[in-house]
Amino acid sequence: MFVKELGATAAQIPEIGLGSWGYAAGPEPLRRGLDAGACFIDTAESYGTEPVVAAAIAGRRDRVFLATKVSPQHFRRTDLLAALDGSLRRLRTDYIDLYQLHRPNGTVPLGETLGAMEEAVDAGKVRFIGVSNFSLAQLQQAQATMRRHPIVSNQVRYNLIDRAIGDDLLPYCQSHRVTVIAYSPLARGFQHIADCDRDGVLTRLAGATGRTAVQVALNWCVAQPGVVAIPKGTRSNMSSRPAARPAGAWIRSSFTNSGSPLSSAADPASKRSPANTFPRLQNGRPAPAAVRPPLPPAADQLTAAPIDYSSENAHRL
Ligand SMILES: NC(=O)c1ccc[n+]([C@@H]2O[C@H](COP(=O)([O-])OP(=O)(O)OC[C@H]3O[C@@H](n4cnc5c(N)ncnc54)[C@H](OP(=O)(O)O)[C@@H]3O)[C@@H](O)[C@H]2O)c1
Repeated sequence: MFVKELGATAAQIPEIGLGSWGYAAGPEPLRRGLDAGACFIDTAESYGTEPVVAAAIAGRRDRVFLATKVSPQHFRRTDLLAALDGSLRRLRTDYIDLYQLHRPNGTVPLGETLGAMEEAVDAGKVRFIGVSNFSLAQLQQAQATMRRHPIVSNQVRYNLIDRAIGDDLLPYCQSHRVTVIAYSPLARGFQHIADCDRDGVLTRLAGATGRTAVQVALNWCVAQPGVVAIPKGTRSNMSSRPAARPAGAWIRSSFTNSGSPLSSAADPASKRSPANTFPRLQNGRPAPAAVRPPLPPAADQLTAAPIDYSSENAHRL
């Protein structure tokens, strides 16, 4: 399993975790995902999945990095602390590894909300504080508000066809050591990405590396420094699903060199604005095919470099 440092904390988290929004397949597939090495689970009080996550991690809490989120309607101090206790109860644990503000709330002063988050850390109920869906300006404001503990992560949408954060938020997070947790890394359904891959770049990359196109898409996310991804799988056997397995770094250097397999030097537009090379999702769906730019070929330039997952980087939570 490959790991990355969480923020500047020295804690290491798996670069592939398990998302649980809308997850309804029961604890066993999640347990298999954990067995496969994806021992980082993301949930939220609003998802209704904290109980199934609790069942999945029963007996192995100390081996799991557990992230959950507080909803914006609970951003008042007393509400937040009560919501935290509710999550702890549903998750059947006495601490949460990463407690995140689910999205900004423009009405409650950030100082009150983040003050309560810091209280929770001081009380030993939370290890690290994160935010989600925060713009660059909102993140900077949150950072400036912290008194005793840092913001270690920002969970935002990021995938091959939605790279909006690449303009400003991602570079800022990378240089300020705020981990980007990429949600919807498969664009809420890999077909959305595949539909944009008119030249079959992902398929060719998959063939060249002996992986699946889904793995390649996930690998693109985690190839970016400071980015981890939390795909969701809902089928019955997560351990056999590429999304639940570590995507690894076998084509990382190639991705790092080219920025994206789907926006290589062959596409002049990608040089001007890589984020615009692929259409961004609109309401969870890619733009119509007619307005999609073609994907440039990149697979032929890549070479596969197999990685032995078994011995390297045993996770330290
Ligand atoms: N902070 C936020 O505001 C926020 C917002 C959205 C999501 N999230 C988090 O991010 C997580 C992931 O995002 P997401 O659920 O929106 O979408 P996602 O992970 O991008 O896509 C999920 C879809 O990908 C499919 N999939 C997974 N593995 C696959 C594989 N190996 N081959 C083919 N298809 C595969 C699944 O299909 P099947 O259904 O067939 O398994 C599922 O429908 C969520 O569960 C949640 O934890 C956070």
